[in-house]
Parts: sequence; C-alpha cells; structure tokens
Amino acid sequence: MNTLFLQANAADTPQIAAEIIQNGGLVAIPTETVYGLGADGLNPDAVAKIFQAKGRPQDNPLILHVAQADQIQLFCRDIPEAAYRLAEAFWPGPLTMVLPARDSVPLSTRAGLPSVAVRCPDNAVTREIIRLAGVPLAAPSANISGKPSTTTAEHVLHDHDGNIDAIVDGGPCRVGLESTIVDLTEDRPRLLRPGGITPEQLLEVLGDLVVDKAVTAQIDQDAVVKAPGMKYRHYAPQCQVLIVSGSREKAAAYIRSHFAPGDRVLCFDEEISLYDGCDPLSYGSEADVATLCAGLFSALRVLDDPSIGTVYARCPVGGGVAYAVQNRLKKAAAFHIVDAEVEA
Ligand code: TXA
Ligand code: MG
Repeated sequence: MNTLFLQANAADTPQIAAEIIQNGGLVAIPTETVYGLGADGLNPDAVAKIFQAKGRPQDNPLILHVAQADQIQLFCRDIPEAAYRLAEAFWPGPLTMVLPARDSVPLSTRAGLPSVAVRCPDNAVTREIIRLAGVPLAAPSANISGKPSTTTAEHVLHDHDGNIDAIVDGGPCRVGLESTIVDLTEDRPRLLRPGGITPEQLLEVLGDLVVDKAVTAQIDQDAVVKAPGMKYRHYAPQCQVLIVSGSREKAAAYIRSHFAPGDRVLCFDEEISLYDGCDPLSYGSEADVATLCAGLFSALRVLDDPSIGTVYARCPVGGGVAYAVQNRLKKAAAFHIVDAEVEA
C-alpha cells in the first residue's frame, strides 16, 4: 500500500481524509496531544484494521473522537451533569471521559466494555475530517503498540509507512503527551491517566477526584483494571531506563559514577553541561515543564536503540503537568527509580 502524505493546511485534505475514513480506511490524524491512528469508530471492520496495524492487544479499548461536545449523546447514555461541566471547561482539549456506552458503539471499539472513552480534540483540521466523514473517529495513539507515542508526522511515517492509507501532517503536537482520562461511570470521578489537563484543574470543576492505582504503580499483566491500557509497559525504549531523583548535583554525581560506555543520559536543558562525555540528551527545560511534555516522546524515540545500555533519566518534580511527565517516564522505566540523595 502507498501511504498518502497530506498537508493539514491543504484545502482538499479534510475531504480526501474523510473519504478514506468513510471507505473503512486508516488515516493518521494530528491532535494537540499526539498523532492518532483514526478509522470509522462505528465500523467493526475498520476498527479491526487499527488493532492489526498497531499490533494492539484486543482487550485494550479505543477512544472515540467527536467533532463537538453534544455528539457524546449519540454514543453515551446516563451522562452525568459533571461530564457537561468538564466538556464546557476543557473541550476541545486534552481530556478524555469514560462514560456508559450506547449500543451504537461496536463492542470491538470498546473492547467489550460497557463504557466508552470520548474526546473532542483541539485540532480544527481533525475536527473538520470528523465532521465531513459523518462518523466519530476511533483513534489510539498512532505508535506501534509498546513504542513511544507519535508526536510528529515523521514518527507516524516511521512506524506505518506502507501500512496505512494516509497521514495528515499537522506539524509537531502542542502538548506532546496523551490526553488526561477521567472515568465518570462510578460514584466518584476517577483519574485513569494524567495528561495536559491537570488533577488540580479537574478538582476545581469536579470538587472530587480519586487517582487510580494504575497511575502511580506497576500493574500486573493479569490484573483486572479500569483502564486496560495502563497495565502494558508503554512508552518503553528497548534499553533499560533508570530514573535518578534528587538534587541536580547529587544526581549528576550518581550518574557520572555509574555511567558506562554505551549508556545515555536523558536530562533537562539546564543540566547538559554536567554530563560532558556522557552523551546527554535534553528533552526540554525544567523551568518550563510544558517543553518537557512536548519533548519527551521524541527523546524516547531517539533512545529506542538496542545498542544503548542504560538510560539515566531526570524527571521533573511537583504537580500540574509535571505529574503527567512523571507518569510516562516511570512507565518507560518500569518504575525503576534511585534516589541520589540516599544512594551513592
Ligand atoms: O491523547 C489521546 O488520548 C490520544 C489521541 C490520539 O487522542 N489517544 C490515545 O489513545 O492516547 P490510546 O489508545 O493510546 O490510549 C487510550 C487509553 C488506553 O489506555 C485505554 O485502555 C483507555 O484509554 N480506554 C479507552 N477506552 C476505555 C474505557 N472504556 N474504559 C477505560 N479506559 C479506556
Ligand atoms: Mg497509546
């Protein structure tokens, strides 16, 4: 298959992409979070192609992307008033809500669950594609399963050239980490995945929030969990990743004393000079955590190299969007963390 490469700002791109979707094809779409691998979310044959192209486990449900908030009534039922408040506050934007599904959503899209995840992305071209296609787009992150997510069209081309019908190139993704997921199917709202909408922002609108244990700890592969995707070792480069916490100086001392040829250091702009001779790679500025979100997956892709031994990684502290960076890096590191304040 020849993969069409479409520019997001070309006048005929939305129509071409929408027709591919209507014909049951696969189109990679830009969003503000990461690139998605989109197909008609109401067509089980098209949805099956997504799982096939990604090599995605069948028990991992997809997010249904809508062009405007009121469309969730077509795919969800018993929608709590809190969902409308969240949509009003954060859509279009990097927030996904899990709600009870209507029968209109095929079981394959939601991996057999009684609920469905819905999101309205903050990308005008992608919303226009959804509108023209006349169907919601099922779209997981466009990476091959288990690889770091795709934040540029080039990442998508790398993973899927010749394997999908088209890629819409909308430039690098603004947020760079996947959407925040909040489950609204229980008595209390539950955070399943942190992202660009912070726990603090959710609390302000909801007044209450439970953090699912899959956010903060390694989950057993056989466990029954709320967010099936959270138990897989996501965002993982092929080498070992070790997070080194503690002050800048203590961390540098620890890393420099353990560093062996072939290892790499993943750090902040502010730390590059501390790692002369250790092949440091910066993923953004510690002083501006949004740059760390935007740069993390590109950096993990560079480090996705079997010839690398260990990647020593620095992780921002604190809440807000730093919470989402911590979650993704800890998963890439399979929760291997050493505290340089304690260990030498
Ligand atoms: O930012 C994003 O959310 C991107 C862009 C393309 O929109 N999409 C994305 O999709 O990250 P994916 O498939 O990589 O991650 C979706 C996550 C998975 O962890 C999945 O298990 C969870 O959402 N999920 C989907 N439906 C669910 C449901 N009904 N209940 C609980 N978790 C669900
Ligand atoms: Mg993903």
